Amino acid sequence: KRLVLIGPPGSGKGTQSPMIKNENCLCHLATGDLLRAAVAAKTPLGLEAKKAMDAGALVTDEIVVGLIEENIKKPECRTGFVLDGFPRTVVQAQKLDEMLSSKGQSIDRVLNFAVADQALVDRITGRWVHPASGRSYHEKFAPPRVAGVDDVTGEPLVKRKDDNAETLKSRLSAFHAQTAPVIDHYKQRVVNIKADKPQKEVAEQVRKALE
Ligand code: AP5
Ligand code: ZN
Repeated sequence: KRLVLIGPPGSGKGTQSPMIKNENCLCHLATGDLLRAAVAAKTPLGLEAKKAMDAGALVTDEIVVGLIEENIKKPECRTGFVLDGFPRTVVQAQKLDEMLSSKGQSIDRVLNFAVADQALVDRITGRWVHPASGRSYHEKFAPPRVAGVDDVTGEPLVKRKDDNAETLKSRLSAFHAQTAPVIDHYKQRVVNIKADKPQKEVAEQVRKALE
């Protein structure tokens, strides 16, 4: 399966990804995680992307398309993949379609994680992440066993720099202006997920959508 997850910041893409990946034997490529790793490693690409990310704006199409091209070649992606946070502009979607069609492939399904803007403030401001694995927690909705500590590794959890109410506004406007049109681009392949439900109910909807 070749899948795309689209949804506003905090809609649960990263939360549902491990289940989707494990139950369908796919690789998980999240451009946000790849970019944050590049920022942390202070690579030239990371240094270039940082400003836009801190401001809640989109990084250039060129940078993220390059990242996907490089990572989608990996052997673990051969059987299929789940793209989380990419494509986020119509140009990125067109580039992805070209990349795949040159290999006789295409996107099978696009899951549209729909949540109203006002529900996302609490999700974003309460999030804690384990940067090395990409695992997310929430202080109210999905707390770790020990506050501030990753369940699996015992390592400390951190806040993302862009997870504040102010930057969220910019991220939401980027989503509505630049990413929402991608849903139309994939029209017939889109399945709508009511992502404002509790995590387990969202997981059930996703499983149904992938049957
Ligand atoms: P990115 O990392 O992709 O951030 P985002 O799109 O803003 O999405 P989030 O990671 O915030 O949301 P999510 O849906 O994964 O939420 P999660 O599951 O963690 O991108 C960051 C930046 O990188 C962008 O702003 C941009 O600058 C750049 N970038 C990345 N990709 C790009 C691209 N393709 N083009 C250009 N620039 C790009 O859940 C959030 C919280 O809610 C968690 O605490 C979780 O525990 C909780 N939660 C999850 N589900 C539920 C539920 N059902 N009920 C209650 N709580 C829940
Ligand atoms: Zn995410």
